[in-house]
Amino acid sequence: MFKGLNPTSIWCQKKALMLIFGLYFSASLLSATTSDACHPIDKAALLDFKSKITFDPSKLLHTPTTDCCKSWQGIACDNSGRVVNVSRSGLITDNFLFDTSMSGTLSPFLANISYLQLLDLSNLKDLKGRIPSELGKLSRLTHLFLDTNKLTGSIPGKFRNLYNLKKLYLSDNLLSGTVPFSIFESLTSLSELGLSGNKLSGPIPSSIEKLVSLTKFDIHQNFFSGSIPESIGNLKNLENVDFSYNQLTGKIPQSIGGLSNLVWLYLNHNQLTGSIPASISGLVSLKSCVLSENKLTGNIAASIGNLRSIQSLTFENNKLTGKLPATIGHLSRLTGLQSLDLSFNPLGLVSIPDWFQELKLFRLLLGNTGLKGQLPKWLASSSISILDLSDNGLTENCQIG
Ligand SMILES: *[C@@H]1O[C@H](CO)[C@@H](O)[C@H](O)[C@H]1NC(C)=O
Ligand SMILES: *[C@@H]1O[C@H](CO)[C@@H](O)[C@H](O)[C@H]1NC(C)=O
Repeated sequence: MFKGLNPTSIWCQKKALMLIFGLYFSASLLSATTSDACHPIDKAALLDFKSKITFDPSKLLHTPTTDCCKSWQGIACDNSGRVVNVSRSGLITDNFLFDTSMSGTLSPFLANISYLQLLDLSNLKDLKGRIPSELGKLSRLTHLFLDTNKLTGSIPGKFRNLYNLKKLYLSDNLLSGTVPFSIFESLTSLSELGLSGNKLSGPIPSSIEKLVSLTKFDIHQNFFSGSIPESIGNLKNLENVDFSYNQLTGKIPQSIGGLSNLVWLYLNHNQLTGSIPASISGLVSLKSCVLSENKLTGNIAASIGNLRSIQSLTFENNKLTGKLPATIGHLSRLTGLQSLDLSFNPLGLVSIPDWFQELKLFRLLLGNTGLKGQLPKWLASSSISILDLSDNGLTENCQIG
């Protein structure tokens, strides 16, 4: 779900543009510059990387000259001719960047580019085989993007040596095995961790509390099991949490309410039980909360009315109840709320409460919630453009939008 936020591809395309324009300049105007040529070890590593690519339909790895620092697409060097960035380069035709792919495996020689800070081979779609554990030697690496490929095997334990890593995206591959989260404990600068869309399994250990710099934590669509550790409450910088589509059990930890920077919370499609903790009221920055398709029970906590930034609440298909008006009535304070989905919950509402009209909702889904009574007149003139009241005991079933 964070895919839209992952800045990699846009950033990378911009980077590729800048690089390529820069390179045309340096090639034509400054053909004999002062900076040294690409270091032979770096060059050997890049050539080995190239030799492991079996199919390069856009000919991105075409090498026009011998100096990798000057005219190789996607390569950036420091002043002493050491390669610092290796990024997936786009294909330019008439100033447009086209999507592309590359088949092959990842060369362990890449680990010899010892000054490397950025390795972005994301979205090449067809890089296969294991992630070479040698990459763990790249202790200067700050950005590692290998997402959207077909990489298999497990996350190398040697990654514990990537002390300077800030962003790690391995999402949308075929990685498997239990994740030794302990390898991330030494990565104290890690702010973005994306492991979604793999076949990773095992529990989320309480030691994740050591990932103090994390702002984005996305492990959705894997096979993670066990409960969400209470220690998650120590990750005060968290902004986006996506644990959806796993096999998580147990309760939503009370401590989650301490995450005052949290903007997105996606825990849907798990097997979470218990009630929504009252502490949730501490999530003052929360805009979107998706808890659907779990086994949550109990009353929707009155404190939900304190989520002052909330725009979208999706609690569909749980076993939540909402006593009226004392509890659910607090929702009427959520003036920024645009979307409310409580469908497939035994809410126990006798009728559609009139205070719903104060909510300025765009989307209201209350299908299969045991509603009874008459359709309120205000519905016709409300701001709601997506409304589902189906499968209820209303005198007139209706589905609009
Ligand atoms: C390498 O990439 C980093 C990425 O974040 C960027 O800040 C830096 O300017 C790049 N270096 C060069 C020499 O292009
Ligand atoms: C670079 O890395 C590979 C594989 O990890 C290794 O076999 C090779 O000897 C290294 N050194 C040089 C100078 O290329």
